Amino acid sequence: MTLNIIESLIISSLLFTLSSCHEGPVIGILTEELLHSLQNQYPNYTSYIAASYVKAIEGSGARVAPILIGQSEAYYRKQISVLNGIVFPGGACLFDNPNGYADAGATIFKIAKEVNKNGDYFPILGVCLGFELLLHLANGGNELRTRCSSENVGLPLKFVPGFRNSRLYGQASIEILSILSSLSVTSNHHRYCITPKNMTRTGLDKEWKILSLNMDKNGLIFVSSIESIDMPFVGIQFHPEKNSYEWKKSQNNPHSRKAVLSARHFYDWIANEASKNEHSYPSESDKTNALIENYSVFYTGKQGASYEEVYLFK
Ligand SMILES: *[C@@H]1O[C@H](CO)[C@@H](O)[C@H](O)[C@H]1NC(C)=O
Ligand SMILES: *[C@@H]1O[C@H](CO)[C@@H](O)[C@H](O)[C@H]1NC(C)=O
Ligand SMILES: *[C@@H]1O[C@H](CO)[C@@H](O)[C@H](O)[C@H]1NC(C)=O
Repeated sequence: MTLNIIESLIISSLLFTLSSCHEGPVIGILTEELLHSLQNQYPNYTSYIAASYVKAIEGSGARVAPILIGQSEAYYRKQISVLNGIVFPGGACLFDNPNGYADAGATIFKIAKEVNKNGDYFPILGVCLGFELLLHLANGGNELRTRCSSENVGLPLKFVPGFRNSRLYGQASIEILSILSSLSVTSNHHRYCITPKNMTRTGLDKEWKILSLNMDKNGLIFVSSIESIDMPFVGIQFHPEKNSYEWKKSQNNPHSRKAVLSARHFYDWIANEASKNEHSYPSESDKTNALIENYSVFYTGKQGASYEEVYLFK
């Protein structure tokens, strides 16, 4: 009798382990209003996600669901309750477009802070424009960027003392850190920079820890990776998803084996952080309908767009 109970306990815990092994976290990617070039070509769509973000997250063992812009606060609350983490992707939209990327980001940022303060764990990774958005929102929606020149260039990270004591780099292997800091592997494509000076001027340096710095083509020092001190929020100014998944020649994306290996660290980070909460969809069919696989991908690289493939949303 006792043996049977023990056996069934062992079997059920085995089954539990097996099933939880196969359930990757689901990471939401915020869509963004269409760039002019895409808008002319696809007039019936209003927002997009570059497929490279989807592939990079999937390459790190998580699944992806799109989060639409221009929705109600209730919609974003619902998204955060079913998703395990969020990526604010890069791009080129303005922060003052009504009902656009920045407005949706502001609502998500507010709810995510609330959720984390209440003892839950909900990570956000901001990439390029998404990194700028995180700090813009943390700065009360006030501009703190400055124009700079750091486009189509690979750079090694200049780590700041104490960077090892961070959420983002604390667990990174020596090999990854050595690649990131010695080779020109981070893919930069930005016309705006956030300077350490402006972090201090705005007082954001009390809430956010600067982890690495870089220099633009004119010698301006800018922040290249950062994390919130209290929340599992990380921002990176460069584009690790481009190393493996964007091939436009003029972008000069670093594609070497080491560049690809080190780029994985950032999406591995969000995938791993996202497995620390138990958020889930109410049913399997809710999940299958929400996943990015339920949408079609368009091959835009063929017409010379900056992205090889994009997902489009009405
Ligand atoms: C856009 O939608 C309209 C109305 O549904 C349709 O007639 C048109 O063919 C669509 N255009 C494209 C490019 O798909
Ligand atoms: C600080 O931010 C302001 C507002 O965006 C900007 O005009 C200024 O150039 C920035 N200064 C530095 C040193 O980054
Ligand atoms: C997923 O696909 C189904 C069937 O095509 C559709 O009814 C549903 O609305 C889609 N879900 C989303 C979130 O678009």
